[in-house]
Order: sequence, then structure tokens, then C-alpha cells
Amino acid sequence: MKIAVLGATGRTGRLVVARALERGHEVVALARNPADVEPSDRLRVVQADVAEPGSAAAAVEGVDVVLSGLGVTRKQEPAILVEGARELASAAPRVIWLTSLGMGSTEGALGAVTGALLKRLLRHEWAAKGVADRVLRDAGGTTVHAGPLTDKAYQGNGFLLHTKDFKPRALPPTAPRAGIAALMVTEAETPRFADADTIALFPR
Ligand SMILES: NC(=O)c1ccc[n+]([C@@H]2O[C@H](COP(=O)([O-])OP(=O)(O)OC[C@H]3O[C@@H](n4cnc5c(N)ncnc54)[C@H](OP(=O)(O)O)[C@@H]3O)[C@@H](O)[C@H]2O)c1
Repeated sequence: MKIAVLGATGRTGRLVVARALERGHEVVALARNPADVEPSDRLRVVQADVAEPGSAAAAVEGVDVVLSGLGVTRKQEPAILVEGARELASAAPRVIWLTSLGMGSTEGALGAVTGALLKRLLRHEWAAKGVADRVLRDAGGTTVHAGPLTDKAYQGNGFLLHTKDFKPRALPPTAPRAGIAALMVTEAETPRFADADTIALFPR
């Protein structure tokens, strides 16, 4: 398949690129600074900044699916998340979008106390993440909501669950970035959650 990765220089995005290449796909890495992406066979790096209208849309032309690990820092305008979601939703046939557990369609999944704490901690991007989720879902995309991301090795034990099947819990389940990358690529290869909100879980 031809897979594009938005946020290809990010801590999760670079693992998504690596996983997609490992699985034999043709990969298009979108990066604000292409020099930050390690070259590889079957990898094309395209300069794209979602704050520049049209650049991400042009970069994903002709791909089968886009996997997004887009994220903003506190210094960035959170509306970038919404712009990225809008651009991909209108330009790509399919989008799988990484976002945070407890936000958007999973608001309430961590119970009232943890939920309120998370909302306070992540207030900078809270509203934008919810809107970006909605944009993606309205366009038939898949959201992958994850708890705190870790750099631990992936044990092959992860799975996606429909948001509606998740039982709220106060302690957020952690998620290895490598596991998120593997689940997103698997979902790209074999869509099981097209047009759905999901939660990534990694039982111990
Ligand atoms: N941290 C957690 O525990 C956690 C938990 C659940 C979900 N998440 C979410 O998962 C996602 C990925 O997290 P992460 O920690 O892997 O993120 P990250 O390392 O901060 O990477 C973010 C990526 O987004 C790119 N980006 C930022 N602004 C851009 C723009 N205007 N145009 C194009 N690309 C842009 C960055 O590119 P540059 O290299 O150019 O900056 C980078 O590649 C985020 O949405 C995050 O909120 C995080």
C-alpha cells in the first residue's frame, strides 16, 4: 500500500514510518523539515506544514491512507490540529488519527476526577483536539485514543477497542509508542475500525 505519515518526525510518527516500511509499504513522510527524516528505500519525504494551507493535501495525493501522529507544543497554536484534520479529511481517501484518551469522543472515559485533571493539564489543546476528532470522524476516519505514551518495547499485546465498549477507569492505561505504530499500520492494512472512534489498549 501507499501510506502517508503526518508528524513523521515526531516520537510516535517516526515509529509509524519505521513500522510501515518494515511491513513493505511505500511510505510518504510529511515533515516541516525533511532533513529531520532518515532516508530509506521505499520512503519519500515531502515538505509539508499544516499551517500552510494546501501543503499537506498536496503531499498526500495518490496515497491509500494517511496515519497521523500530529501533535502541538505549548508554543504552537492548537488550531493547527484542526487545520491538519480538515486538510487530510478533504484530501485523503482514509485517515487514521492518533489522539488522547479522555478527550473528544472519549471525554469521561477516565472518570470525573482524572478527567478534570487531564482537562486542566492539557487545556492548551483540549478544545482543538475535540474539534479535530469530530472533523475526522465526520469524514469517515478512524480515531485512535491513547493514554500516556511510553518508549517501552512493544510486546505484541495491543488492540483497538470501540470507544463504546470501554469501561471508564480512573487510572489511564499507558501505551507504548511502538505498539501504537504497529496498531495504526495494522488498521491501515486491514480496516476493522473504518469510520469509528477507538481506544488503544495494551494489557499487561
Ligand atoms: N504524550 C502522550 O503521552 C500522549 C498520549 C496520548 C496521545 N498523544 C498524542 O499523540 C500525538 C503524537 O504524540 P507524540 O508525542 O508522538 O508527538 P511529538 O513527538 O510532539 O510529534 C509531533 C509531530 O507533529 C509535527 N508537527 C507539529 N506541527 C506541525 C505542522 N504545523 N505541520 C506538520 N507537522 C507538524 C511535528 O513536527 P516537527 O518535528 O516539525 O515539530 C512532529 O512530527 C499527539 O497528538 C499527542 O497529543 C500523546
